[in-house]
Amino acid sequence: MNDDLRTELALLRDLGFTHLDLTKPLSEAAAVEAGLAGESLELQPNEETLESLGAVASACVRCRLAQSRTQVVFGTGSPTADLMFIGEAPGRDEDLQGEPFVGRAGQLLTDIIKAMRLTRDDVYIANVIKCRPPENRNPEPDELDACRPYIRRQVELIQPKVIVTLGRFALQSLLEKSYSITSIRGQWLEYHGVKVMPTLHPAYLLRTPAAKKDVWSDMKQVMGELGIAF
Ligand code: URA
Repeated sequence: MNDDLRTELALLRDLGFTHLDLTKPLSEAAAVEAGLAGESLELQPNEETLESLGAVASACVRCRLAQSRTQVVFGTGSPTADLMFIGEAPGRDEDLQGEPFVGRAGQLLTDIIKAMRLTRDDVYIANVIKCRPPENRNPEPDELDACRPYIRRQVELIQPKVIVTLGRFALQSLLEKSYSITSIRGQWLEYHGVKVMPTLHPAYLLRTPAAKKDVWSDMKQVMGELGIAF
């Protein structure tokens, strides 16, 4: 089964479909299952918006993190952003406020975005994991797998020109490859036709301020790609 089909089927399942009648076109079969078939097709899974995807995510129970979260942290910013930042998972502050990167690491990310002559409203910020892992432990592989369709669909809907991944987990989970972040950061990669700049996580920079110059060098490449003067 190819990735597109797998993602589509996973989302249909999240939208509540339990059966597909393959004798009919897929969208029609899905609508019949959802009780939406009629004169006009109200639900086209291929044409969902970020908002409707966020609504699906907010009720997600695809993994055990649903039991301990306060709320799902879906993402924030411009739905038409050229630049997307993708982090790991919500921490305590994010879990309480429902917004990614609002704690100390988030403040540093905001400063990085400002240094790029942008604001948080110009970009889109999300995580590969939408629910806080208890005690901020590392996400488990099955949790990353369960959550991956959401970030994939967010990227498809936003269609950014550039994605910046923050830290090892974001990079590895998005690209489904076990890169070493220290050797790959600063080198352009690709995700379904979108350029990806892997860089270090802001939380790491809080512990290792000397690495800020590496992140700034990566962000200058991103600015160059987006045509932002520095
Ligand atoms: N770290 C992350 O990776 N994401 C957040 O939203 C906050 C901290």
